[in-house]
Amino acid sequence: MKDIVVLGSTGSIGANTLDVVRRHPHRLRIVGLGTGRNLALLQAQVREFTPTFVAIRDTASARALHLEFPGLTVFAGESAAVDLVINSPADVVVAATSGMAGLRAVFATAEQGVRLALANKEALVAAGPLLLKAVRRHGGELVPVDSEHSAIWQALRGWHASDVKRLILTASGGPFLGKPRSLLAAQTAGDALQHPTWRMGRKISVDSATLMNKGLEIIEAHHLFGLPYEHIEVLVHPESIVHSIVEYVDGSQLAQCSRPDMRIPIQLALSYPERWPAEYVLNNWQGTTWSFLPPDLETFRCLGLAIAAGRTGGSHPIVLNASNELAVDAFLAGRVPFLAIEAIVEEALSANLPSPPQTVLDVLEVDTWARNQAQAIIRQKAVY
Ligand SMILES: NC(=O)c1ccc[n+]([C@@H]2O[C@H](COP(=O)([O-])OP(=O)(O)OC[C@H]3O[C@@H](n4cnc5c(N)ncnc54)[C@H](OP(=O)(O)O)[C@@H]3O)[C@@H](O)[C@H]2O)c1
Repeated sequence: MKDIVVLGSTGSIGANTLDVVRRHPHRLRIVGLGTGRNLALLQAQVREFTPTFVAIRDTASARALHLEFPGLTVFAGESAAVDLVINSPADVVVAATSGMAGLRAVFATAEQGVRLALANKEALVAAGPLLLKAVRRHGGELVPVDSEHSAIWQALRGWHASDVKRLILTASGGPFLGKPRSLLAAQTAGDALQHPTWRMGRKISVDSATLMNKGLEIIEAHHLFGLPYEHIEVLVHPESIVHSIVEYVDGSQLAQCSRPDMRIPIQLALSYPERWPAEYVLNNWQGTTWSFLPPDLETFRCLGLAIAAGRTGGSHPIVLNASNELAVDAFLAGRVPFLAIEAIVEEALSANLPSPPQTVLDVLEVDTWARNQAQAIIRQKAVY
């Protein structure tokens, strides 16, 4: 029996994780759940999974939980997720909070020396080298949950990293694949949230529409697998069946394929080194066509911005990530148009002199600077 903590349990990855746990009651047990604001869903999850610990940001919500579940230990406030991780005796922590809000709890998990099943890509983008160092120092392990990185992680098993020629990250292309730039300007939040193959949270759905998501994933792959940026490529694959490819020096390419269902990489991050049955996976390729095309860097400029920020390194990935988070929020709120997202990120990056963060506090300091910078740019561009 493995004890599991899920951070971001009320989100899309969180719900998928709980579904995996639901299907393996003799192998997996929930000991802790961490959320932001969704009290009603957390209450339903506590009733079903009976954890010992929960974390919720809002203190009024914490009081409501105390009243309904007197035996439950409830952490509240800014540090709730960190308190949850430090106090829960977990074998695996699934880090599925969205955005930089998840950073401190991700580091707290690394410091516990337990398995970190990492969905929160923003933590790796902003603080990759520091996070990997913390995982190593405390004897834990990091298993990627992002489907592309799970695919690469699987295709690397049993072979030497020195024999890898390149990594090919596949990308669905998002809801605006094939649209000319002239039509992108008028796309609304509603349009951007209609992802053709994946059902995900709002922020990552917009990142998929701008291709920023793929840019963040390139930086993530660079840190996780230690390859230089010139050996990491992107291939658009609208069917989302090939989740990524490792090419070795002998010309062999190892790919991992499955239907697009996040429960597959989540389950592997929980079951590893075992593989468990998953009756919901129906892989039947008869009559299907798989297509591959190059990414359109002229139309989707966020991808190029992310690659450049990754190559520059230092504080640039932190600025990229923070300014993008704010730009996406502003777009979702209808304050700025779709193409303003890339403009806000570009302006924030150009105002930053790259300097390498030495500590998590340095990362948070740059993050705060970038958020202030992005807010000022958004105020200039906002329609209200
Ligand atoms: N969805 C996918 O298929 C997918 C695939 C690969 C990677 N990822 C990555 O996984 C992460 C989660 O994505 P998602 O799609 O599951 O997002 P989501 O549906 O928006 O869920 C986000 C979760 O984070 C919680 N949260 C947000 N802000 C918080 C805060 N300040 N403090 C504590 N909790 C907070 C939310 O809680 P409340 O709702 O209760 O406020 C919710 O539980 C992201 O980093 C994303 O890039 C997602």
